[in-house]
Amino acid sequence: MTKKISELFNFKNKVIIITGCSGQLGRELSDFFLKNNSIVYGLDKIKPRNSKIKFIKCDIVEDKELKKVIKKIYSKHKTINILINNAAVSFFQNFKYRNLKNFKETISTNLYAPFNAIKFLSANSKKRDNLKIINISSIYGVVTPNFSIYSKGDRFNSEIYGASKAALIQITKYFGNLLANKNICVNCISPGGIENLNLQKKKFIKKYNKNVPKNRLAKTTDFLAAVAFLSSDFSNYTTGQNIVIDGGLSLK
Ligand SMILES: NC(=O)c1ccc[n+]([C@@H]2O[C@H](COP(=O)([O-])OP(=O)(O)OC[C@H]3O[C@@H](n4cnc5c(N)ncnc54)[C@H](O)[C@@H]3O)[C@@H](O)[C@H]2O)c1
Repeated sequence: MTKKISELFNFKNKVIIITGCSGQLGRELSDFFLKNNSIVYGLDKIKPRNSKIKFIKCDIVEDKELKKVIKKIYSKHKTINILINNAAVSFFQNFKYRNLKNFKETISTNLYAPFNAIKFLSANSKKRDNLKIINISSIYGVVTPNFSIYSKGDRFNSEIYGASKAALIQITKYFGNLLANKNICVNCISPGGIENLNLQKKKFIKKYNKNVPKNRLAKTTDFLAAVAFLSSDFSNYTTGQNIVIDGGLSLK
């Protein structure tokens, strides 16, 4: 039977985990689901400012910590409906300074932690949970940065960041396939650069914008419709996909 849009986009009392809830995008996603009356658990190493989410301090790279948190949420609510693997780290200095420690930190945060969250949740998830998993990758998991727009001191993303994000897209496909019969959808969103006036110089923003068909950096709100779609019953038949939201950057 055809349902109303509002029925399919109903997040009331959905139990959601958002990792990296204290960061730029994590705060937007937390607010979005709070406004839609969800039960929002935010996991991060640092506490978010002025947030009404249920914050749990957690280093997601630590297996035992993450497992304990997920167990706690299951025992309280008997369900988890949405997981957003959003936390990530990156390095910005020239590759000649990169070392094994940097590689390990990037891979463990950007790849191993999302993998573990998928592992723990899929082990507990029941078909009725209709679990939706959204991995936040990056446009630099799809294409390389255009190095010509960077000047000395600008933050251009490292090779290992891009590699970790490309691997996250692949893991999305793998688990999209493997977990489909458990009524779990696993999808990915690859954002283009997000405007952050605290971190980006005006000169850099100008050059970045010139490189984008939509002529601007992203706002955190640019991803909400895709997150809502992939979290909702609208996407019950969508799995293993990567939605690129980059203002057309990757088309050039
Ligand atoms: N900002 C951008 O331009 C951009 C572009 C493309 C993709 N992304 C992706 O979007 C996501 C969010 O980015 P953002 O800009 O909001 O990042 P951010 O740096 O503002 O926030 C990341 C959060 O993750 C947390 N975190 C890191 N390691 C952790 C760990 N081990 N345990 C728990 N928490 C941990 C940090 O404390 C931080 O609060 C990331 O996956 C990022 O790669 C961002």
